[in-house]
Amino acid sequence: MSSNALFDTVPSGGAALTIRRPDDWHVHLRDGAMLAAVLPYTAAQFARGLIMPNLVPPVTSVAAAAAYRERILAARPSGSDFLPLMTCYLTDHIAPDEVEKGHAEGVWIAAKLYPAGATTNAHHGVTDIPGIAPVLERMEKIGMPLLIHGEATDPAVDIFDREAVFMDQSLLPLLKRHPGLKVVIEHVTTAETLDIVRANAPRVAGTITPHHLMINRTSIFQGGLRPHLYCLPVAKRERHRLALRKAATSGEGCFFIGTDTAPHARGAKESACGCAGVFVGATALQSYAQVFDEEGALDHLEAFASLNGARFYGLVPNAGTVMIEKRKSRVAASIAVGDQEVVVFRGDEDLAWSIAEAKPRRWSIDLRRGFV
Ligand code: NCD
Ligand code: ZN
Repeated sequence: MSSNALFDTVPSGGAALTIRRPDDWHVHLRDGAMLAAVLPYTAAQFARGLIMPNLVPPVTSVAAAAAYRERILAARPSGSDFLPLMTCYLTDHIAPDEVEKGHAEGVWIAAKLYPAGATTNAHHGVTDIPGIAPVLERMEKIGMPLLIHGEATDPAVDIFDREAVFMDQSLLPLLKRHPGLKVVIEHVTTAETLDIVRANAPRVAGTITPHHLMINRTSIFQGGLRPHLYCLPVAKRERHRLALRKAATSGEGCFFIGTDTAPHARGAKESACGCAGVFVGATALQSYAQVFDEEGALDHLEAFASLNGARFYGLVPNAGTVMIEKRKSRVAASIAVGDQEVVVFRGDEDLAWSIAEAKPRRWSIDLRRGFV
């Protein structure tokens, strides 16, 4: 067990675990009314979040990222010290100087590579990865991590093979071409990708979502079509889910939280052509805790949730703590967004774990001035 994790018995008789406040290294907060509705959930669970840039239009300039960061800060519930860490959306045409400028000014800490058309709002993404070599070389030089949505976009590729094909055809050659580039393979869904992460650690890391630890591809069709379990990369076979659970709970430093919380209005999901994305922001930590408990690995939860990601990004871990209890809790089935609603992953279900209390950290980070 890590020195910071404390097991206690709570009055209800269940176990409780105190860990450093965790970070979410992959979060879609959206904008406007949706941002205001979903941010409180992420801010209640995580001290920092790495904010995905796939807005409409995407966050492709330093000015756009700085303005988006201000909107997130302004949307925080009162008293929240949640810190948004920003990312840059790579296109075929983004200039290496712009990417470096945002990094040097502390506006963004990483850049996101969406293969064009791979997922929600990815149509401005990269069509030719070797074509952005000058950007990747610059990132390699300045130590700026590249975050990759690793799926092939050729419509002829079977949807369940898209991650594997991307790894073979695009990721492995990219790692060879850029041997010093730090890379996060996001929302890993296959056993083979986990092995690629391990083989290339520590300069390569992988994030794992709560839902890919809990559902497999059959869950999406259990008793009928379950559009709220559809996300990209799509969940795979059971053997992959089991491998993901082993990896996340293993204590290996190359794996950490990225919830990929991705809210869409109910109508956009329950549709003839439903959007990809699961809103997991309200039940993420409870779900991770349950998985670690089921795997007998609660002593590794703090590393996965609060230490490994910070180490990869060269940031200090959060100083505050959160107490998680083995006590049943429930989250609402959906949350309101204007006159619409977003369905909550595992909403209105008994959760085995609950978040007892979060103590804010005693210091804050100003990315321009370092740690204060
Ligand atoms: C994400 C979204 O909705 O923005 N959807 C998803 O299925 N995960 C985009 C992404 O991360 O692929
Ligand atoms: Zn995502």
